[in-house]
Amino acid sequence: MNIDGKPYRSIWLAADGATVEAIDQTLLPHRFATVQLRSFRDAEHAIKTMIVRGAPLIGATAAYGVALAMNADAGDYMLQEAHQCLLSARPTAVNLRWALDEMMATLKPLPTVQRREAAYVRAAEICDDDVRLNRAIGEHGLQIIRELLRKKKQPSHINIMTHCNAGWLATVDWGTALAPIYLAHDASLPVHVWVSETRPRNQGASLTAWELAQHGIPHTVIVDNAAGHLMRKGEVDMVIVGSDRTAANGDVCNKIGTYLKALAANDNSVPFYVALPSSTIDWSLSDGATIPIEERSGDEVSQIAGRNKHHGVSRVALTPKGSAVANPAFDVTPARLVTGLITERGVCAASSQGLQSLFAGKINERTAAA
Ligand code: MRU
Repeated sequence: MNIDGKPYRSIWLAADGATVEAIDQTLLPHRFATVQLRSFRDAEHAIKTMIVRGAPLIGATAAYGVALAMNADAGDYMLQEAHQCLLSARPTAVNLRWALDEMMATLKPLPTVQRREAAYVRAAEICDDDVRLNRAIGEHGLQIIRELLRKKKQPSHINIMTHCNAGWLATVDWGTALAPIYLAHDASLPVHVWVSETRPRNQGASLTAWELAQHGIPHTVIVDNAAGHLMRKGEVDMVIVGSDRTAANGDVCNKIGTYLKALAANDNSVPFYVALPSSTIDWSLSDGATIPIEERSGDEVSQIAGRNKHHGVSRVALTPKGSAVANPAFDVTPARLVTGLITERGVCAASSQGLQSLFAGKINERTAAA
């Protein structure tokens, strides 16, 4: 997508053919800067500190992290070490494990002399595939938007609510939840997006709003707690969110607060869609109950950072000294609250049958492996 009119991906290989560059998402929306990743430790650090974040981008960064490891030393020990360290960088998004397993399956059988080149090629393929799949998700989601607009009594515009950032910054390009919105806007459909801020890290207010503004898409930032009120007033036509891990029965794990939106949507008959590439499906889990939920630092809850009047960034305290804080970063929305899953292969019910109708081969692979 474009930044000030210039096309960007969220991660790319630098001109030297070895270093990896990424947008530093911890600085947005106040400052645009990129970081250079030169070792797998740099990639691990970028994932841990959320310089890069969002399930598909975490996977893509890990893939390049393995390539960086192979650039330094293509031996078995390094391959194993990079795989292990990167795998533990963040616990919830399953794309991380998926991408690392893809890299391992490609590299392990090869003689060390071939691993470096093969690693960069496979990492680039993972990135290119992500762009292609997200575009396909966008096309399928666009049909839903068109249909909702067609059915709307006063089709002046369609109001879509999203949560967190499942836009192009969270992927390599296009995004998952935002891909249908970009395509709808590009097709001159009148879309308006309700962007929920997504406390505590505010990926909605800082990243989604920034992306949409760069693309000229009308949007309004709301506090997370306004979502139910707006749905009740009939000001939301649909909700689209992303996912960090979806179980084989269609239970969806996504950024904390997603579950509350799904409950409010259900109570108000607002369609609630989840957009995800198949790399986000964890076929080994029969439901969402055992998805590991990342517990992050309480500082994210008790403090907040923002631009000050001197155009610098200040961090301030919000809570009384000594108050306990908890910071679960994700929640699980039961499949029964999900209207449909928008995948690269089409839209299906959030159920094992629904997923089976699109991905029968994948389920069989899992059964064979078990
Ligand atoms: O903690 P984050 O910012 O990595 O969480 C991101 C999300 O929850 C996204 O909704 C999810 O990864 C889907 S990204 C296309």
